Parts: sequence; C-alpha cells; structure tokens
Amino acid sequence: MTIGFILNGEDVVVRTEADIRLIDILRDTFGLKGAKNGCLTGKCGACSVIFNGNIIQSCLIPAFRIRGSEIITIEGFSQTDEYQDIIKGFSQVSLENCGFCNTGKVLAAEALLERNSRPNREEILIGFDGIKCRCTDPESLVEAVQAVAEIRQRRLYGRT
Ligand code: FES
Ligand code: FES
Repeated sequence: MTIGFILNGEDVVVRTEADIRLIDILRDTFGLKGAKNGCLTGKCGACSVIFNGNIIQSCLIPAFRIRGSEIITIEGFSQTDEYQDIIKGFSQVSLENCGFCNTGKVLAAEALLERNSRPNREEILIGFDGIKCRCTDPESLVEAVQAVAEIRQRRLYGRT
C-alpha cells in the first residue's frame, strides 16, 4: 500500500505493508535512527515520536494508522528553539544519562510543555509515565522539566 503523511514538516509517501511498524518505516525507509529499538512492546518509550501532537511509541503503530498524520521525530524536533530549551534545562540539572532513552525524555517534555507551560510535580510524573529510564530519578526529572519551563518562559516572554 502507498501511504502519505507529514514527516518533520515535509509531505512524504511510503510504499509498505499495512502491518509494518512505524519505527521500522522511520529507521529503514527514512534513515531516522533517533527512535530506538528498545522493548518493541510499548513499555520503554525509547522509540517515541510526536504523532498528531501527542507522544506515542512508534513500535506500536502499524503503517495503516499513519496515513494523513503529522509525525515529528527527534531529528526534526532537534532543529527547533523548543529543543534547545529542553537541552538547556536538562543540562542545568545534570540529569544522569546513558543516553538510551533521550529521545523519549526530550519528546515527552515537549509534548507535556506544549499542553501545559507550568506543569506541577504530579503532572510531570504522569507525562513521563511511558518513559522507562533506569538512569534518572523522578525528583531530578521533575526539577529538570521545571527548569525547562522557566527557560521557555524567559525565551518567549522575557520573564519567568
Ligand atoms: S521500543 Fe517502543 S516502547 Fe520500547
Ligand atoms: S538515560 Fe539511561 S535509560 Fe534513560
């Protein structure tokens, strides 16, 4: 089947089978390796992408569901000012990092802050529920996301 969708802001078309997973299309057809092959069962978040504004696990999405959708991968998102806010905020708190789940952590932060510019502790923990990180403790994560929120407010409005 032929499927058209928007990938990192560009109209693209792919020929594939209906049940091929989005993660495989991204990695094998488009060479976008930022979505990692982790558990491949929807439990770790390493394969996260933003799908129509929501963070999803691309290992769970079959090709037939992506028709007409808008998908942003970490490669596309890394070209934005919003990405820079997140990198600055995360480094300010010095999150312990092996790097494996970085894609999931960065995109989860963006999906959350896009909806809620000032999330509280509980909202942050819920927003990161689908990301299994063995390196980062929850309190550091909360501190990091709140640091990103402040950086973003300063960039957008010149205040916190
Ligand atoms: S690889 Fe998709 S959730 Fe783990
Ligand atoms: S940074 Fe190591 S698993 Fe998350």
